[in-house]
Amino acid sequence: MGKCDNEVGKQMSITERRPRIVILGGSGGIGKELVSHLRHLDIELIATYFVNKPKITAGIKWYKLDIRSYIELEAFYSKIFKDGSIDAVVDCTGISQASKLSKVSAIEIKNIIQTNLISTLWVAKLSLKYLSAGGVLILISSIAVKTNPTGATIYSISKAGIEQSVLAFANEFIEKKKRIYCIRLGYTKYGMQKKIKKSVMKKIEREIPIGRLGTGEDIGFIINYLLDQRSEYANGSILTFSGGV
Ligand SMILES: NC(=O)c1ccc[n+]([C@@H]2O[C@H](COP(=O)([O-])OP(=O)(O)OC[C@H]3O[C@@H](n4cnc5c(N)ncnc54)[C@H](OP(=O)(O)O)[C@@H]3O)[C@@H](O)[C@H]2O)c1
Repeated sequence: MGKCDNEVGKQMSITERRPRIVILGGSGGIGKELVSHLRHLDIELIATYFVNKPKITAGIKWYKLDIRSYIELEAFYSKIFKDGSIDAVVDCTGISQASKLSKVSAIEIKNIIQTNLISTLWVAKLSLKYLSAGGVLILISSIAVKTNPTGATIYSISKAGIEQSVLAFANEFIEKKKRIYCIRLGYTKYGMQKKIKKSVMKKIEREIPIGRLGTGEDIGFIINYLLDQRSEYANGSILTFSGGV
């Protein structure tokens, strides 16, 4: 192993260059927290948005991407790869659901499964191909797979599919000396959770055993752990990160 002059590179076992980290969905609530956590580190940060072009640009290369198009997604990976190695991909894309099965339309069902599950399988396939050796893919599931909220049934199914895909793909990632993890994220104060009524959120917060919602610092901490090469013994795992829920 050669020289390394930056801490993140050391942790990721990358030598002689800055690690290149891709945040898919960097414009969303969780993505933004992650971007602000990572942008001060000595790394090359690449992030995507779909509709909401972010205002923070210093130190970040932004790309517009519709994850529902395999052609667009593959072109994105191929472009980033041509510019240099890809050391980590964190997929923070996703859409929520706000109605019961009896109310949700057929099109919405299809869109949730496409965005949250099928596109994530594509991300896994392309990451397996394009990640550098030792590289890492981090997917995000939700505590909804355990709590089963009535108005988020299709969403929960899509997240259960993500968790299963991490278990199913782990061997192929390990064979190629790459890593794959899933964070089963609990309730936070960001992004799609802001759509939940305040009174409901208060009740949810009271029921979190640790007594509070997840913060950007919590998310930054778990991402640091997973980016670090020393987490490799957890390769192929689903890490519940939910304050005890
Ligand atoms: N927020 C939480 O507390 C929480 C809890 C558990 C799990 N999660 C999971 O964490 C992830 C991020 O959630 P969030 O709260 O940050 O959601 P969010 O604020 O709604 O952000 C979603 C992100 O996905 C992007 N996106 C949506 N459709 C897309 C498409 N077709 N192509 C490309 N990008 C697309 C959005 O881009 P634009 O904004 O540019 O349109 C945005 O960057 C999701 O997988 C979610 O299920 C979140």
